[in-house]
Formats: sequence, C-alpha cells, structure tokens
Amino acid sequence: MRVFITRDIPAIARETLQQNGFKVAVYKKDNPISRKDLINGCKNADAVIPLLTDKFDKEVIDQLKKCKVIANYAVGYNNIDIEYAKKKGIVVTNTPDVLTDATADLAVTLILACARHVVEGDMMVRKNKFTGWKPKLMRGIELKGKTVGIVGAGRIGQETGKRMKGFGTKVVYYSKSHKPEFEEASGARMVTLSRLLKSSDIISLHLPLSDKTFHLLDKKKLGFLKSNAILVNTARGEIVDEKELIKLLRAKIIFSAGFDVYENEPNVNKELYKLNNVVLLPHVGSATFEARDKMAKLAADNVIKVLSGKPALTPV
Ligand code: GLV
Ligand code: GLV
Repeated sequence: MRVFITRDIPAIARETLQQNGFKVAVYKKDNPISRKDLINGCKNADAVIPLLTDKFDKEVIDQLKKCKVIANYAVGYNNIDIEYAKKKGIVVTNTPDVLTDATADLAVTLILACARHVVEGDMMVRKNKFTGWKPKLMRGIELKGKTVGIVGAGRIGQETGKRMKGFGTKVVYYSKSHKPEFEEASGARMVTLSRLLKSSDIISLHLPLSDKTFHLLDKKKLGFLKSNAILVNTARGEIVDEKELIKLLRAKIIFSAGFDVYENEPNVNKELYKLNNVVLLPHVGSATFEARDKMAKLAADNVIKVLSGKPALTPV
C-alpha cells in the first residue's frame, strides 16, 4: 500500500512506514504543494500525511480514490473538511499531546518577550543604538501577582497555565467545561470569556479554529482588554480580528501582543512591521526537534493502524 507525505517531515515517518511494508512517496520541495500536485499525489494513495497548510476541502476529498486515512501532521485540523471525510469513510487523525510542551513553552516565551521588550531590545543593540544603562530604558511588566487568562483550557492551555503559575501569577481560564485537574495543579479558576478579558493582565489563546471560534475576539471583545494587557496567540490567527487588534496596539491601548499565527498566513499584515510593541514569530509553536519527531512518528503510527484495519491512535 502507498502513503503520500506532502512535505519532507522528519525521516522517522518514512522509516516507520517502510519498516511496516508500505511504499512511501514524499513531496520534496520546500514550498507548499500546489493544489494540482496535492491531488495528483493523493489520488491513488491509501493514506496521506499532509501539513496544516494543505487544504482538504470537498473537491480534493472527492479525488481520493483509495484513501482510508488522512493523518494530519499537526494538532489543528481546520485544513480538513472532517465531516465530509467521515462521510466518505476516511479517518482523520492529528498529533495531540506530543507537541503540548513545545507549544506551551513557546506561549510562555512570547509572554516574556512581550512583557520585557526582548525583541525590541535585541534590535536596538544590533543597530548599535545601545548607549549605556538608563533608568527608564525599556521598562516592562513584572509577572508576579498578575492575572493570566487562558482562553481554551485543553492540553496546551493547561500546560501554559501551569508554567505561568510558576512565575507567581494568578490563573483564570475560559473553557466549555470545568477542568478540575488543571484547577488543582495551577489554582486556576474558570470564568466567562468577558470576565477573563476584562480582568486579565496577560491573555494566551489556546482554542482550535472552527466556525464558533472565528473572530471570537472581535472588536467588541477586544474592547474589554485592560489597558496594558498583553495578548499572545499560539493557536490560530483567525480567532482574533487582526485589524482591530492592530488598532489597539497602534494606539498603545494595550501593552503588547505576541503572534505565532496570523489571520491570513503566510501573508502578514504589513502594519505589524511598523509596531514596536509586537513580537512576530513564523508559526513555530511545535518547532522543537523532540516534538516534530514525535509528530512524524505518531502520524505514521496512525496510518499503520488504520491501514491494518485497527482503530487510529488519535482520531479527531
Ligand atoms: C500547529 O499549528 C498545529 O496545529 O500543530
Ligand atoms: C542592574 O544591572 C543593577 O545592578 O541594578
């Protein structure tokens, strides 16, 4: 049986599949696969391992003649029409858990970078503009005693909250359901989204993208943010109305924002380049050697399970 991998992900995926007797084709170019090449590559494959940038809408899914499983190389799966795939008898899997720590680490990195002008400071030194210690140079915000709002208390949200607790912050969270184990570990308290936005000094987003979460932080909700708030997004750009957020940042109504994701990836709103109070990363939440290897292994294992007629390890 054949497996098509839409990009050169860590070799462990291919090796695991080959050791189990599968034929593997890898799309090797270092740029997103075109729709045409995606369809050609997937058409006669028994399984596909795509990236989160590969769109599997109805039209693409209709072209899959033999495919039994789409094993997304990501925890998010908003690139796949899962209802339609299900209808066609195709199992969809993702890579949860293995990238939780990496992504929580990055959320904390963005929070600290935003709070302490890390990137702005680096740029100043590089430009040879550091002229000596100054009492008021790049003063930032101390974390101890502040309130951190975790929007979406799934695996990554919880790990981010636990890490932040270590800095002496108070943690609140917004979630569909109570998370007793999270409350136990971090002292976190569940609140409504409006209350979270109105009371948090630092807000970190950890929701999947869906029809329900698109622009969840719209103009009105962004208007709830405290002056001097820090907002960090390591989830999906579309959760926030980016244009409205930029207005708040430009007017310095909030302190800063950390972006790992953008509303129109890979296009970044050029207005962001003009702002000092933002930290801009290229969607690297899960980009550790450890997580990316484990994601590759998990995607391959999901393929092997489904093609052997067994239940997937991590179906969505
Ligand atoms: C990254 O954004 C992922 O969904 O894995
Ligand atoms: C800073 O470097 C200090 O000594 O306070």
